[in-house]
Amino acid sequence: MSDGSSFYITTPIFYVNDVPHIGHAYTEVAADVLARWHRQSGDDTWLLTGTDEHGQKILRTATANGLEPREWADRLVASAWKPLLETVDISNDDFIRTTDERHEVAVTLFLQKLYDEGHIYAGEYEGYYCVGCEEYKQRDELDEPLSGEYQGQLVCSIHSRPVEILKEKNYFFRMSAFQQRLLDLYESRPEFVQPESVRNEIVQFVRQGLSDLSISRSSFDWGIKVPWDPSHVVYVWFDALLNYTTAVGYGTDRELFERRWPAYHLVGKDIARFHAVIWPAMLMAAGLEVPHKVFGHGWLLVGGEKMSKSKLTGIAPSQITDTFGSDAFRYYFMRAISFGQDGSFSWEDLSARYQAELANGFGNLASRVIAMLQRYFDGVVPSPTTAASTEAEIAVQRSVADAASAAHAAIDRFAIHDALAAVWSVVDELNGYITEQEPWALAKDEADRERLQTVLYTAAEGLRALAVLLSPVIPKATSRLWAALGVEAALGGVTAQSLRDVARWGQLPAGVRVSQLEALFPRIDAAVAS
Ligand code: MSP
Repeated sequence: MSDGSSFYITTPIFYVNDVPHIGHAYTEVAADVLARWHRQSGDDTWLLTGTDEHGQKILRTATANGLEPREWADRLVASAWKPLLETVDISNDDFIRTTDERHEVAVTLFLQKLYDEGHIYAGEYEGYYCVGCEEYKQRDELDEPLSGEYQGQLVCSIHSRPVEILKEKNYFFRMSAFQQRLLDLYESRPEFVQPESVRNEIVQFVRQGLSDLSISRSSFDWGIKVPWDPSHVVYVWFDALLNYTTAVGYGTDRELFERRWPAYHLVGKDIARFHAVIWPAMLMAAGLEVPHKVFGHGWLLVGGEKMSKSKLTGIAPSQITDTFGSDAFRYYFMRAISFGQDGSFSWEDLSARYQAELANGFGNLASRVIAMLQRYFDGVVPSPTTAASTEAEIAVQRSVADAASAAHAAIDRFAIHDALAAVWSVVDELNGYITEQEPWALAKDEADRERLQTVLYTAAEGLRALAVLLSPVIPKATSRLWAALGVEAALGGVTAQSLRDVARWGQLPAGVRVSQLEALFPRIDAAVAS
């Protein structure tokens, strides 16, 4: 994958009915880590995120707040969704809003094409609808509570709120016609939907048979107008899924579209079905390539339940970053949770990992090495010598090379946690190396000078490699470390370093001057962190 080729990765576009919580930030960070990794591996990378602004849910929220939906969306985008990207340090290349003109124009073209080619017909819809999900529901997806506020009513099993009964003239997309082609796709390209648990669920769902999809609504008008019948607006999911293509030139810039498309889609497993069933069927109907991959990650759980604002378990990302910083946020969620599985968030676990891994493990290593270079070599990185080299230095080099190749392989599988674990083995290796080589003891005897040079060069070169390997995950700390290593003038910035080449030993030029490094991950007052 990482061979200079196109790597176009997307997050879901988020509903602007509410402000972001750490579940949304989690998807953003994962996509960002993958994007940064690929960018630094030399791939033609593009990271897209954005907001989903049409539909009944947004309309109702805006109305409840006394605003026009567009005005409401503008406010939330500016006050909450764009700032989220700063809060967790996202390097997105674009931000699409479904109210952007470029999007609306291209959605109209897409729809007209499907209509002209016979994939869309008019019909009557009668069924249940959950506004929270913005989805039509089958009876077996609903609960009938025996007590409480909604006793005796049919409620959505996800939102625990009553569904509505819709009876409308609608336009339908002939999705049922794509059942076999979808099954063939899952069969011939097992990597198309991942992880396996999500893939199995999707295959089973499609095997049961597909109905046609109602893709328009006429009872409200907050949406993109159906081009041949402006009394209807396009169903919000049909509109939203198209963002992945409209943002990269579909219908407006063929060359750009061909360069970027297809994409890798990162989504929460709750919306994998839209992405792995409806979306490829839409693309097939339009004669476009299906995505490279739909990866459905797990949920962040708080107290054993999916964290959500509506269940009052929502935690704002800034609650974490204000105390721990954005790097710690990014590291923690990428390291502590197997990407693809659910993971429980706890303040205790976050604090413990911050202290043990970031502050004591990596932060201390960097501070110690820089401090010893200052103390024993006046801050100038010494040259290693062959005569003073031993097996121990070879072991350090080997550990960097092994970690780099394991991390590349893990990233190719979207196993971000495995990539981080592999890189962390270098942190442990270097800490062990320093403990064993005891540079402070070598410094006492002039006869050990060459050995001391070699040991500290090896430690500093190890730090150089770690800064590069970790920069997709903890960009702020690694750029501070890079600055302290004094290599910017000789090598360029840390994000300009190729991850393909990271293990080539000896890139740190002897003779550069290191500078003071404030603690990368300072101690956090226990009272604040709990
Ligand atoms: N607007 C649709 C997506 C359209 S994509 C064409 C939507 N938006 S959403 O605002 O509800 O965000 C859903 C996404 O937020 C999930 O798919 C997931 O990526 C993320 N998460 C929301 N809650 C989450 C958790 N508790 N845990 C992990 N991710 C969560 O659905």
